[in-house]
Amino acid sequence: MLSFFLNERMKRLFVLLLLVLSLFPSCNKQEELKIGVAVYDFNDSFISEVRKAIIACSENDIPVTIVDAGGRQQKQNEQIEQLIKEGYSVIIINSVDRTASGVLIDKCMQNDVPLVFINREPVKDDMAKWDEVYYVGARAEDSGRMAGELMASYWLTHPEADKNNDGVMQYVVIKGETGHQDTELRTEYFIETLLEKNIMLEKLHEDTGDWSRSGGYDAMSSFILHSGDRIEAVFANNDDMALGALEALQENGYFSSKGFVPVIGIDGTPAGKAALENGMLLGTVFNDAENQGRAAYNIAKMLAEGKKPTSENIGYDIIDNRYVWIPYRPLPGIILSR
Ligand code: GAL
Ligand code: CA
Repeated sequence: MLSFFLNERMKRLFVLLLLVLSLFPSCNKQEELKIGVAVYDFNDSFISEVRKAIIACSENDIPVTIVDAGGRQQKQNEQIEQLIKEGYSVIIINSVDRTASGVLIDKCMQNDVPLVFINREPVKDDMAKWDEVYYVGARAEDSGRMAGELMASYWLTHPEADKNNDGVMQYVVIKGETGHQDTELRTEYFIETLLEKNIMLEKLHEDTGDWSRSGGYDAMSSFILHSGDRIEAVFANNDDMALGALEALQENGYFSSKGFVPVIGIDGTPAGKAALENGMLLGTVFNDAENQGRAAYNIAKMLAEGKKPTSENIGYDIIDNRYVWIPYRPLPGIILSR
């Protein structure tokens, strides 16, 4: 009789347990959530800093898988298809070619996988395709303006910068990847800012260094070959190219027998900051990788959990329902802060 009673009791307990479990069908859901991150190129220094920030956020939270397209859009398209197939809840995309974003949005929309673009801004029409598409970046024109202000403040306080004494700044530009919003706008606003300050300009050369140190080195080597001492100022669209330019300048006797050449970069990467501190780089503009990574992660997390991202729940202002802009900040080198 007692054993019968126990069995009944246990049976009832068991049924109760099943009932309780069935009330929480999403118990394991948090564990199943996962965020995919598709990056254009793991070799890019600034993007590596953004990656680090995303990884740091994911620790003890929704896990991320980061894939590298190695600079090939076709490869990235396949990677995104794969992430969708593997059931990723949300995808953060740093596209190889930003004009390819439309196709990626269509694909993700069909599969109901929300998207957060970073760093390479899709055009407005693409962004408007679906309301589960976000963009986190920085306003390129601001960085160009700040770079221009840094160069202007050097020029206006160092008369010796006008080496040939003609009252005109003879300058060269090392541009980032062609077609990238940062390349075009940084260059445009850099020049505009100098002109606004009534500084007369003469562009000696312009070439692309594709965001890389070796690209910056090659472009600068060729500028030196053609114009050498006539070059009075160098604007590189990012720090890696500025570092390559500094290397080429040093190899050609500048920063020693041939004296100082003002070089400005953008990003404030660890290597860029080191060059500011040792007096080689005149200035740079801080491109806040950490906050860009964190904002993108926070949006992705909300979307993964099925919540609508708001300025409150992600901790960053959302503009026009889909944009988060992380501010740039000028970083003057030791010569400018003296
Ligand atoms: C820019 C950055 C560059 C490069 C590029 C890649 O914002 O300044 O260094 O990382 O993005 O898209
Ligand atoms: Ca001059």
